[in-house]
Amino acid sequence: MAREDSARTPAAIGEKLLATRKLTLDLAARLSDADATIQPFPDASPAKWHLAHTTWFFETFILRDHAAGYTPFDERWAFLFNSYYEAEGPRHARPRRGMLSRPSLDEVRDYRAHVDEALERALPSLPPQVLDLIELGINHEQQHQELFLTDILATLAENPLQPAYAELPPPACFAVEPLSFHRGREGIVEIGARDDGFAFDAERPRHRGFLAGHELANRRVTNREWREFIEDGGYRTPTLWLSEGWDWVQREAVSAPLNWRSDEAEFTLGGNREIDWAAPVAHISYFEADAFARWAGARLPTEAEWEDFAASADPHLGNQLDQADAVAPRPGGGMFGDVWEWTQSAFSSYPGFAPAEGAVGEYNGKFMCGQFVLKGASCATPRGHSRATYRNFFPPAARWQFTGVRLARDA
Ligand SMILES: [Fe+2]
Repeated sequence: MAREDSARTPAAIGEKLLATRKLTLDLAARLSDADATIQPFPDASPAKWHLAHTTWFFETFILRDHAAGYTPFDERWAFLFNSYYEAEGPRHARPRRGMLSRPSLDEVRDYRAHVDEALERALPSLPPQVLDLIELGINHEQQHQELFLTDILATLAENPLQPAYAELPPPACFAVEPLSFHRGREGIVEIGARDDGFAFDAERPRHRGFLAGHELANRRVTNREWREFIEDGGYRTPTLWLSEGWDWVQREAVSAPLNWRSDEAEFTLGGNREIDWAAPVAHISYFEADAFARWAGARLPTEAEWEDFAASADPHLGNQLDQADAVAPRPGGGMFGDVWEWTQSAFSSYPGFAPAEGAVGEYNGKFMCGQFVLKGASCATPRGHSRATYRNFFPPAARWQFTGVRLARDA
């Protein structure tokens, strides 16, 4: 797995590491200790926990395992900040992460500084396979940067004062391209990540798949189109819904995207705001995306259709994306940005899939049950983190992420 290229020298990796670590601190700069301690519901984590857990990842898999003489910042903290690694032993229960008023946010910042300094000292002498682990740690931290933003949105959404996380520009009122469908390729195509460059284990190996005749929409579904679905009784029409989805709509009394507060307002990272009708709809579940598509006479794309479309539409989309600042919405075209796009594909292994070696083999493979793949990227995805082969995944009822939908249909 170790590769020889200039982007992967200890100096280059060290630079990317420190920039990534700094961005996480910057995201937390505007939060109080109280903001950073709340856990709004069991699947979301406190901001402070994200800051500490990403640090534990480096402390455990790099420093403890590969840096001679490293002294842990506090040996008791592994129990608090191990997320789900069975190979790393018992851990604090996930739904109770919000109970950790100690350590304080400042102590967690000290933990980060301790680990960052030790990583800088260790970097020049680490062998290539450990640089691969650091690259995994960087990408892991980027994933947590997005979760940090979605979880703090969920946290602030609980507060009747409707506090803003950040100033956001006013709704842009972009003119939206009329919806059109474009024919994708048909026949045998290759999907999945090649062996060069970073990818998570679940993106490999690259393999062949078959695409039947199909078309994909030029853009994501907008808030205005979603309002038409609501006004047409979409949430009250059982024949539009999967059985499990209809049960969910009734049990949870769902009647609009997660953060819509009225017919005109939506809670965002910028606080309560007028709904931007031209923007892509966000914070919808797989069930809602699927029901909308049925209402619209369409269906959700498969993962392979989406990936091949993105790759063949513009080969430069493959790896590095020039994304704007983390919380700024960017309505418009393209396959990446604003919202992750639900596909109808279950998150499962590709033919020949092999989990990474060691404890980090638990990273993706053990979650290949009951979840659906999302493609693209969102307004909260760090710059350069996504690519055409990227496989985000969530259970079908999850909607606190920036999730939306692009329509597909048979052709
Ligand atoms: Fe994690």
